Amino acid sequence: MKTNTAESNGRLSREKASRQDAEILRDANIALTENLSLEKVLETLLDFLSKLVPYDSANVMLRNGDSQFVVSALRSYEEFQGETPRFIAFDAKTNPILQHLCLTKQSVVVPDTHRETGWQWVNGAGHVRNWFGVPLLASGKVIGVYSVDKAEPFFFQEEHVRLAEKLAARAASAIRNAQLFEQTQHHVAELEERIAERKRAEAALRESEERYRELFENARDAIYVHDLEGNYMSVNRAAEQLSGYTRDEIVGHNFVEFVAEEHVRHVRKSFCAKLAEQGATSYEVDVIAKDGRRIPVEVSSRAIYENGLLVGVQGMARDITERKVAQDALQMFSRQLIEAQEDERRRIARELHDQIGQVLTAIKMNLHTVQQDCNSMEAGSHIKDNIDAVDEALRLVRDLSIDLRPPLLDDLGLVTALRWYVDRYAKRTGLNVDVVIKLADENERFSREVETACFRIAQEALTNIVRHAQASQILVYVAKDENSLTLSVKDDGVGFDVESLRKRAKRVATLGLISMQERAHAAGGAIDINSVPSEGTEIRFKFPLEYEL
Ligand SMILES: Nc1ncnc2c1ncn2[C@@H]1O[C@H](COP(=O)(O)OP(=O)(O)OP(=O)(O)O)[C@@H](O)[C@H]1O
Ligand SMILES: [Mg+2]
Repeated sequence: MKTNTAESNGRLSREKASRQDAEILRDANIALTENLSLEKVLETLLDFLSKLVPYDSANVMLRNGDSQFVVSALRSYEEFQGETPRFIAFDAKTNPILQHLCLTKQSVVVPDTHRETGWQWVNGAGHVRNWFGVPLLASGKVIGVYSVDKAEPFFFQEEHVRLAEKLAARAASAIRNAQLFEQTQHHVAELEERIAERKRAEAALRESEERYRELFENARDAIYVHDLEGNYMSVNRAAEQLSGYTRDEIVGHNFVEFVAEEHVRHVRKSFCAKLAEQGATSYEVDVIAKDGRRIPVEVSSRAIYENGLLVGVQGMARDITERKVAQDALQMFSRQLIEAQEDERRRIARELHDQIGQVLTAIKMNLHTVQQDCNSMEAGSHIKDNIDAVDEALRLVRDLSIDLRPPLLDDLGLVTALRWYVDRYAKRTGLNVDVVIKLADENERFSREVETACFRIAQEALTNIVRHAQASQILVYVAKDENSLTLSVKDDGVGFDVESLRKRAKRVATLGLISMQERAHAAGGAIDINSVPSEGTEIRFKFPLEYEL
């Protein structure tokens, strides 16, 4: 009877215990699914494990990569060792117990660590005598292990292991969910950071676009973009103000409609040059405003590319009316000055020839009369000396008068005057001068301004050659093509460094080249000085006879 009572008591308490265990497991299942934080899930696991198995210490290791197991949560080690263990990871490749667990995917029990050769001692876990590990399996893979320790050997029973294993499936799926949740959170955070970054970049872009737009809109110069056909795609406010057309009247229309007809070819040429050189070009053209006014503008433009492909042209046009007016005024003053100088020379030349020349001729005639009446030998020789002196003075006056303004230039034109001047020059200097004239008619006349400018430039260039070049051969060349008249004076002398002369000219005034330049500009032409030290010099003057496109 006693035995029966004892048996039934034992059965009752076992039943009670197993009911309790079932309740704990049910609660654990609920608690484990309640949370998505990995840390909380691991803590919950260790909590419920302690209710099922009376362990001294325990930990959860999670698999990291191929074979590494990292201790991710631990409980009660400090109670035995006075500190939390410092071990953080085990490698299944070198740890036979973990290796076995991974291979079999079954729990492993070590009844006494002192008798287990494969046991790996680590700091902070020296108290562990009895140990078992339960694999955490998800989708058939070991994703972790929870390891349960007792300071007493042979403590854990099969029942303990079985109870602990009952937690494993739910624990593994809770851990997996938490890990996935963590990964998702990580991705979301990354995504958020990327979105924030993109937003920042977009804001910066918007800001820079805004700045560019402001710059574009408020620029004082007209700015435009046109496509490869020359149709305007965008223009700024200054372009509207300059042309008098509204933006709508410009955008979509071709540049041909706004540029002076005679300049269209020039703009096209510059466009082609831009495409060929991939660089910027600058030129001057006249824009025809809405009210018909002609506005001179200086354009600088460049090709624009998108992904390496040419898509259009961006340009800036500056109203240069004021500059043009100033330039024209300057050119006019210069022209007037040169004309006044030439008039003065002509007047002095005439006076020298007509008045002084006549006085000297009269003196000479008087001296001749006196000579005829004179009987004294001595006086006769003095009179002859005087006649010679007057002859010399007459020659000097004639030369001076011719140099000042050769009458041939006015009477017979540029080529005759040049030939005559060069002939006289060659005789005087002993230098070889060739004259090459490429004109259909050598007697062709050009404007007085051009003829004078050409003659004076040739005169100064030839004077410079005698003074500086030490040349032996000179070529004077005049040619005309459909657009321009060219004069060139070339020597084979010592040459000079044009650039350093330009710099020096700011400090030391030499007038010859400057006056050549001024004459060229005043006559609407341009001068080109080409000199190579020890090879020679060429001064080339080009005067446009028509508008050059
Ligand atoms: N054909 C030439 N060969 C070599 N050097 C030259 C030649 N022409 C000009 N030069 C150099 O250029 C300089 C400037 O010439 P520029 O005619 O302006 O002044 P200049 O002849 O020295 O003085 P001036 O004002 O009296 O003409 C000369 O001093 C000389 O060094
Ligand atoms: Mg000179």
